[in-house]
Amino acid sequence: MVERRPDEAGSRESRFLRTLAGEALTPPPIWLMRQAGRYLPEYRELRARAGGFLDLCYTPKFATEVTLQPIRRFDLDAAILFSDILVVPHALGRDVRFVEGEGPRLDPMTSLADVHRLKEAIDLDFLAPVYETVSRVRAELDPSKALIGFCGAPYTVATYMVGGRGGEEQAPARLLAYREPDTFQALIDRLVDASAAHLLAQLRAGADAVQIFDSWSGDLPPAEFARWSTAPIKAVCERVRAEVPDAPIIAFARGAGAKLADFAAAVPANAFGIATSENLAAARRAVPGHRALQGAVDPIALVAGGAALDRAVDTVLEALGDHPLILNLGHGVRQETPPEHVAQLVARARSR
Ligand code: CP3
Repeated sequence: MVERRPDEAGSRESRFLRTLAGEALTPPPIWLMRQAGRYLPEYRELRARAGGFLDLCYTPKFATEVTLQPIRRFDLDAAILFSDILVVPHALGRDVRFVEGEGPRLDPMTSLADVHRLKEAIDLDFLAPVYETVSRVRAELDPSKALIGFCGAPYTVATYMVGGRGGEEQAPARLLAYREPDTFQALIDRLVDASAAHLLAQLRAGADAVQIFDSWSGDLPPAEFARWSTAPIKAVCERVRAEVPDAPIIAFARGAGAKLADFAAAVPANAFGIATSENLAAARRAVPGHRALQGAVDPIALVAGGAALDRAVDTVLEALGDHPLILNLGHGVRQETPPEHVAQLVARARSR
């Protein structure tokens, strides 16, 4: 693993890791959620050769190349492993498919018996190609750039496992959580174990930092958010830190809004993701001290480009520029994004 002690921060030290250690840098380090993907012609070309999306994720040669594509094109400060949050249910024995043009499909889980049918522990051998990709990327990446590993938060992954797909405010999972909280808790507990093991395997393979994506918990009322989002993410962080005490962690509870202050008080992450819709001043108050914020340019402003994009970048830099900040989007890059607009975002942020 690369050095990440702030006192040794030299020219080769990653600016991304310095920010996670609590430094406010101008310009801030930049990476974008979903920075690899279908908006890039070189991704579409490789994806067509690999076959399915999961074949791409599980073939280290291809996944390494796709991870590095946006770094070569845009000189971003961090690469994110090319994979998916749904490899965790896959490695717990669930059937996971990606339907062209529609998204992920899993066989819905409806009962405690389904939870008991999951593998006792996540099959890390099954995910060996993912960890090999981490090692390959780290070996090829410039030392000044960081490699981010990731997992989905237990709640978000559970919503796909219970509902079998995304959509409709993840209602099937929420319904199960209200009707059979013990069943839902048993599933969440399995996912806490599996997620921590998956993050640790990525850190051991060479990931410099990890991000936990909770894409759907923002919709939950505060008490449910505390139980199903905050508590499991806190547990994952603690499991990881028990083995790798200085592991840099980014927690992204998308749309936490007014729940962010309690979330940040409980979760021992180095940085917190901020969604597009958040009030930046309020987010800053919610995360006191030297812990970093990550976000929050509107992905649709990135599609628009031009003066609107410049304004969107400037707004984030003006609100958060003197705080430890990782410039990113408030959600992932959209497929219809012109690649030149990503170059524009990077140039704008680095010109100030
Ligand atoms: O950010 C990156 O560039 C790294 C790779 C990454 C992917 N998915 C690749 C991907 C990451 C970090 C994810 C996370 C992920 N996956 C989340 C959390 C973040 C978020 O977006 O809220 C979720 C909810 C998923 C589940 C998932 N995977 C969905 C809902 C879909 C379908 C949506 C779509 O855009 O098709 C995927 C597929 C997926 N994951 C693609 C990519 C590049 C598109 C696959 C393709 O090439 O067809």
